[in-house]
Amino acid sequence: MSRLKAAIVGATGMAGQQFVLALSGHPLFEVVQMVTSRNVKSYGQALLEQDGSSRWTQTSDVPADMKDIPVVSSNDFRPEVMDVIFTAIESDLAKELEPQFGKTTPTFSTASAFRYEADTPLMIAGVNDHQADLIKVQQNRRGWAGFVLPIPNCTVTGLAITLHPLHEMFGVDRVLMVSMQAVSGAGRSPGVRTLDILDNIIPFIPKEEGKVRQELLKILGQKSGSEIVPADININCICTRANVLDGHTEAVFAGLKKQAEMSEIKQAIQEFNPLRGQRLHSAPAQWIHVFDDPFRPQPRLDRERGDGMTTSLGRLEPDPVLGGVKYLLVSHNTKMGAGKGAVLLAESMASKGLLD
Ligand SMILES: NC(=O)c1ccc[n+]([C@@H]2O[C@H](COP(=O)([O-])OP(=O)(O)OC[C@H]3O[C@@H](n4cnc5c(N)ncnc54)[C@H](OP(=O)(O)O)[C@@H]3O)[C@@H](O)[C@H]2O)c1
Repeated sequence: MSRLKAAIVGATGMAGQQFVLALSGHPLFEVVQMVTSRNVKSYGQALLEQDGSSRWTQTSDVPADMKDIPVVSSNDFRPEVMDVIFTAIESDLAKELEPQFGKTTPTFSTASAFRYEADTPLMIAGVNDHQADLIKVQQNRRGWAGFVLPIPNCTVTGLAITLHPLHEMFGVDRVLMVSMQAVSGAGRSPGVRTLDILDNIIPFIPKEEGKVRQELLKILGQKSGSEIVPADININCICTRANVLDGHTEAVFAGLKKQAEMSEIKQAIQEFNPLRGQRLHSAPAQWIHVFDDPFRPQPRLDRERGDGMTTSLGRLEPDPVLGGVKYLLVSHNTKMGAGKGAVLLAESMASKGLLD
């Protein structure tokens, strides 16, 4: 069976590089086009800075099957000849470009441009698959043959994955969260200034806390007809930037409607394995790894678990203040929280026949 022709838009950036890794040698998608702001011959050339240094920041090499993929600027890109498009561009640019892509081609986006649109689901594969059908509402309303399907902000991903089994089993009614987010989460343009972040924690990330509140409630919400009714959870958070390269750490306090033994709560989290048996290429074998060691998880030690697709959770204890539990999680922001998470979503949509 021939693979679906795929393009990566924003392939040189932090999230884009993760698309490149996740799609290298992929059994379902074949990358045939990269798109950046410039016309250059190949992806290898697009990664070169003017001073000759490389923009590639991953510890593994640029995959051999990706180096020679042709690159065009977004002005010259023809979305209609692609079967699927993966985008990793800033939101203002996404607002302009993604509607053009969605007219003809299924488009999976890491940007926030479409996340809050009423006719658009906001998905993490395995967490809220029941929202997938809403993509047909977007297509009908806009008269598109394709669609634009966003994944959430990378700070929401680990939070939604860990709260989902708790919400399903015990009902979550209140959440407080404090994040310590990696510098790669800010991308490269402009990114975080070295002089600001070294030996430091920055106590504010513009617009982030509103995104966390709104997106979490949409993801854990219920579908009602052609709409998503946000989950009825009282949530607040403080989002900070920490001196960590990759991997967002989040301290979470969750109030539960139904009281339960800690052993039941731990079991619900450990057994969460929603895509089991579906044989999706990018799905982790283990969704949430629970540590008993109180010194784990740590971003440096645990972000790569399950190739960055497993959420690590520790410090799981009762919380008498909100009447539920507290815990700390580590989630890889550019893997599960961006490139590879969006590829997993595309695999899941393909398995539902929504890319045909
Ligand atoms: N970093 C994360 O952890 C993360 C996680 C989840 C979601 N996101 C979201 O993903 C998106 C990308 O973030 P990032 O961190 O990867 O940013 P980034 O590192 O700054 O990369 C931005 C990319 O956009 C490309 N670009 C700029 N202008 C373009 C144009 N006119 N046409 C086509 N491509 C253009 C750049 O390519 P050239 O410079 O080579 O032209 C670069 O590849 C954002 O919306 C962000 O919110 C990021």
